[in-house]
Amino acid sequence: MSQAPSPGRINLALKYSRFAWLALRHDGWVTTIGNLCSELAFDHHYGTRTWLPKDLASLETTGGSRMDGVQYQGTNPRLARKLLRSLPSDARNAWFIDYGCGKGRGLLLGIEAGFTRLIGVEFAPELANQCRANLKIARRLPPISSISVVEGDAALFQPPPGPLIAFLYNPFRGQTLQRVLQRLTAHSQTDGQAVQIVYVNPQEVEQFTRLGWKMKNPIFSRGTLAGGIWALSL
Ligand SMILES: C[S@@+](CC[C@H](N)C(=O)[O-])C[C@H]1O[C@@H](n2cnc3c(N)ncnc32)[C@H](O)[C@@H]1O
Repeated sequence: MSQAPSPGRINLALKYSRFAWLALRHDGWVTTIGNLCSELAFDHHYGTRTWLPKDLASLETTGGSRMDGVQYQGTNPRLARKLLRSLPSDARNAWFIDYGCGKGRGLLLGIEAGFTRLIGVEFAPELANQCRANLKIARRLPPISSISVVEGDAALFQPPPGPLIAFLYNPFRGQTLQRVLQRLTAHSQTDGQAVQIVYVNPQEVEQFTRLGWKMKNPIFSRGTLAGGIWALSL
């Protein structure tokens, strides 16, 4: 006799159906299906498993605010590639930090874009482990000199000295975002280091503006800001 699906699975199915419906309504069929294909093609190409979203409610976390945190969902490769391509070519010498790296898609896109020194920060150990596994099995990537996945709260992460590219795919909001931005501002102002933030699916743009960050190379999708590169205006 076949078992009835559990309430958890039904809730998940309802949640993702709603999510798919919202994406269809906002982006239309062509873009939504194009995005889905690029996500599936990404894992197929690299032999990785970054596709399935993961709810924070089902995960243990090591400190940090779960209230501020956004669930795992891999970044849209088409959009992230466009933003990374718009960085100046000498940006590739900087550290690439993926704040809230989840299963590692942002880091893989960073490697693909030519970065050779990368760090992922993730507060859910299960996701951090999946990220490490994906980095291990990924094929067809250019060589890199250093990569690590740090388990912990992004708000407490002290970036290494030197120029930085901070990659944020809407990982967290509120005070967590504020504390990360304050650290990046100090890194740039106190240490005189170039910092650029790639903010995909920006939800709290006003926090950037308040601290003196200015956006360049914005990308819009149907009139909504889908991403941009932020730098401190001196
Ligand atoms: C939208 S996903 C981004 C995934 C990844 N950056 C990518 O581009 O594919 C957000 C991620 O941020 C993580 N996260 C949320 N709050 C965090 C925090 N305070 N510290 C570290 N990671 C956090 C979540 O666990 C989740 O994996």
